[in-house]
Amino acid sequence: MGECALSNLYSFKEIPAERREYLSLIAEIMDIRKRSDVPLAYVHTYGCQQNVADSEKIKGMLHMAGFDFTETPEDADFILFNTCAIREHAEDRVFGNVGALKNIKRRHPSVTIALCGCMMEQQAVADRIYKSYPFVSLVFGTHSIGKFPQLLYNVLVDGKRIFDRNSDDNTIYEDIPVLRDKTFKGWLPIMYGCDNFCSYCIVPHVRGRERSRDSQAVIDEARSMIEAGYKEITLLGQNVNSYGKGLDEDITFAELLRRIDSIEGDYILRFMTSHPKDCSRELIDTIATSKHISKHLHLPFQSGSSKILKAMNRRYTREQYLNIIRYAKERIPDVSLTSDIIVGFPGETYEDFCETLSLIKEVEFTSLFTFIYSRRPGTPAATMPDVATDAEKGEWFTELLKTQERIAADRCKSMVGSTERVLVEEINEKTGLLSSRTSGNIIVEAPGDPSLIGTFQTAKITEARNWILRGEFI
Ligand code: 5AD
Ligand code: SF4
Repeated sequence: MGECALSNLYSFKEIPAERREYLSLIAEIMDIRKRSDVPLAYVHTYGCQQNVADSEKIKGMLHMAGFDFTETPEDADFILFNTCAIREHAEDRVFGNVGALKNIKRRHPSVTIALCGCMMEQQAVADRIYKSYPFVSLVFGTHSIGKFPQLLYNVLVDGKRIFDRNSDDNTIYEDIPVLRDKTFKGWLPIMYGCDNFCSYCIVPHVRGRERSRDSQAVIDEARSMIEAGYKEITLLGQNVNSYGKGLDEDITFAELLRRIDSIEGDYILRFMTSHPKDCSRELIDTIATSKHISKHLHLPFQSGSSKILKAMNRRYTREQYLNIIRYAKERIPDVSLTSDIIVGFPGETYEDFCETLSLIKEVEFTSLFTFIYSRRPGTPAATMPDVATDAEKGEWFTELLKTQERIAADRCKSMVGSTERVLVEEINEKTGLLSSRTSGNIIVEAPGDPSLIGTFQTAKITEARNWILRGEFI
């Protein structure tokens, strides 16, 4: 195993000689081209935690190639946007921000500009970048991360533009160094891709088929993070509940959780995202009886209407969803439930939407991620007829937010006077208070010394402010 000196730098396997070679060649070139004492990279990540985890791999490689990191694109020798394709709005933002890089390239012609991630797996997007953004030198998709050193080296050496989309490559690379953004909480991907093909979703089209990491690789990485002082580990996958499918060994996600949970140490274990169709009682029992797993279940239901769920190809009904929730509440007292919801799916009527409203009232979620449906070319829903107008969808969305605000506020109020174990994460620059999270993923703000960041504290809850709690560390 190739563990490294920095506590947030990790690689499961030795970095292969070829990759090292490319990285040191990049280092040699950048040593001449750099504009500061060290070559600087600006890496900006859009979208979900899977993208954040991918960026941490790319940063690991850049670190090995001698780069330091800057938050200011103007200062950078290498600029990378890791992009998201989940909704049209996300793509528009990327196009806008890429357009703005033109001026930086004009001022500093030696800067190399690269784009990667889900958007780049779409031919139409890659074509548009090729034609309209000539200052972008390197484009690669989610499947090409393993080739990044070679691709960057080639761009630097011969100055030609490279567009590499390698959608057939489903290899899981265990031999890429990971440079984590934080030293006390970190992402740990356990699987890649998605086989569910929800009819609205672009992810299976851009991230490819579902594939699980070997359990030993996951467990070793978790252990190494705990030994390095990580206090929170979040296991990542588009559908963690189907972990293990296709592996030689016979292992479920619940079993993987139990094996990680048995590692000694003071840490909290989270995971996302669960799919209700695969959310087993075994998983809920595992959470209920575990030592380290957070009492939190993020279980996206998307719509409260069984008719819409069918059109979404979600493969569960409203009743089946509510049955899992009932079981979770029974087995895990005070379980914190969160979810994703789409408003305005094609064919959704106000009556369907009311079923979503009634479901959130019944479940009483801690918080929700709410989205207005966005048409994704190439997905089955993109050609389904719509019945509601954009204005109506906007009104429903506002109604949903207002309803959830009341639910979250009531839940937070009921916690005043209780004590909670929290992990202190950062300082809120606006309030000057320390921001921490409960096991149920609720934010608690409290006065305290910044040296507490990265430690567990006990907080007495003194006040509820909508969906955020205020308290004192005791
Ligand atoms: N439009 C709106 N929201 C979407 N999501 C996925 N695809 C779309 C889309 N086309 C939402 C789902 C998913 C979350 C990550 O993003 O709620 O759970
Ligand atoms: Fe998209 Fe559905 Fe897969 Fe989630 S489970 S990534 S919503 S296709």
